[in-house]
Amino acid sequence: MLTEVLTTIDASRDQNLRDLIDFLKIPSVSTNPDHADDCRLCANFLASHLTKLGLRAEILPTGGHPVVLAKNTHLPTRPTVLVYGHYDVQPPEPLDQWLSPPFEPAVRDGAIFARGTCDDKGQVWCHVAALAAWQQQGGPPVNLTLLFEGEEEIGSRNLKSFVQKYKDQLTADVAVISDTNQFTRGLPAITYGLRGLVYMELALTGPSHDLHSGLYGGAVPNPANILCQILASLHNPDGSVNIPNFYDDVLPISPEERDAWKQLPWDESAFCKELGIPHGNGEAGYTSIERKWARPTLDINGLTAGYQGKGAKTVIPSLATAKVSMRLVPNQDPLKIAAAFEKAVRAKLPDNCKLETSLHSSSGPVLTPITTPAMQAAVKATQTGFNTQQVALMREGGSIPVVLLLKQQLNLDTLMVGFGLDDDRIHSPNEKFELDALHHGTRTCAALYHELSTLKP
Ligand code: BES
Ligand code: MN
Ligand code: MN
Repeated sequence: MLTEVLTTIDASRDQNLRDLIDFLKIPSVSTNPDHADDCRLCANFLASHLTKLGLRAEILPTGGHPVVLAKNTHLPTRPTVLVYGHYDVQPPEPLDQWLSPPFEPAVRDGAIFARGTCDDKGQVWCHVAALAAWQQQGGPPVNLTLLFEGEEEIGSRNLKSFVQKYKDQLTADVAVISDTNQFTRGLPAITYGLRGLVYMELALTGPSHDLHSGLYGGAVPNPANILCQILASLHNPDGSVNIPNFYDDVLPISPEERDAWKQLPWDESAFCKELGIPHGNGEAGYTSIERKWARPTLDINGLTAGYQGKGAKTVIPSLATAKVSMRLVPNQDPLKIAAAFEKAVRAKLPDNCKLETSLHSSSGPVLTPITTPAMQAAVKATQTGFNTQQVALMREGGSIPVVLLLKQQLNLDTLMVGFGLDDDRIHSPNEKFELDALHHGTRTCAALYHELSTLKP
């Protein structure tokens, strides 16, 4: 039966692309309240498409954007696969850097360009199109539960309470997510680890109002100077993070992983060239792969103080702010790290300034088991989908909050089978998803439902 399904997929590339284009046209930017209606539209679009394919689909409210939950007919004799994806996208700005508008999908150079093509609408579509092909052959040989949320890009804030509330609806034997990358073009990968994230904002106030820097400068605290000093002190000269207790729970990279990663076809100079930098940097004693996948970091993501307009203005700002995120690795605890960060910052704060801190989002790091039958099924499906024997096992540096949620709330392990490429420019202007990735990804999803049907329910 899988053979027929794969033939159907090979024959319906154009139709699948046309359907995906309709999905991509909806500007479902979750962080911007002006797009709340578009998020609802996007959920409706998914639900009605899945209904047309013969599934039972519901749109369920959350405290934020709605969730789409859909199922085929479940039989007690079959294993249940929970497929997760997100229909929300990052804001498209800066708009002037797009070669074609972000919500007018355009095909060029063998890829489709639009916001959300790779992250994650195109990868969601791999599952939808795989399911469509299976439906033409009487349906997939597993119970499928599809869970598509609209708040991943803002930290999946409402998903924990959603999963708790609908626990019974979400029971499954394994979860599958396509929201990660291939190792490189032509070397597909299964991802077994993700970094976590703590995202904090600092607001440092000195004098009650902005001041003439000549009349007051040198005699009063300048929050911009002080914030820069504090932030600069958070790294050591060797590139490590200078926060007491930051590394306490860090799981070291095992010698086996180090060896395995050294075998991967990593091209350091191509990595730097694509980014326009002469060389990389980071924690001493680690390779770029190790730094990205398995070492924790601290990065300033936004920094504001003083006059930002054209020209010069002599001013001591009253306020300086910074957005700082930390990527975490197993077994760091986001809330413990948030507390350690705040303590370290406050310890350096002069007593004539005031500091306010807030936590934007947090997501736990994950490692999933690699020796399970489900993992073997994923490798086999990827080999079929991509017509190759070579499949990499890797970790990734990004974060997907639902993975730890599913483990903690439902004791579910997740297979991360993703089809993106490093140069797909997710979250950046000119995001793309290659047509081959869409096609091979769809084939992989179809094969995965087949391979997972032999799991014991
Ligand atoms: N799909 C990405 C994460 C990702 C991309 C993981 C490529 C591995 C490879 C996801 O949509 C994302 O951007 N996550 C955010 C999470 C945050 C907003 C809580 C991230 O990592 O910054
Ligand atoms: Mn994503
Ligand atoms: Mn993303």
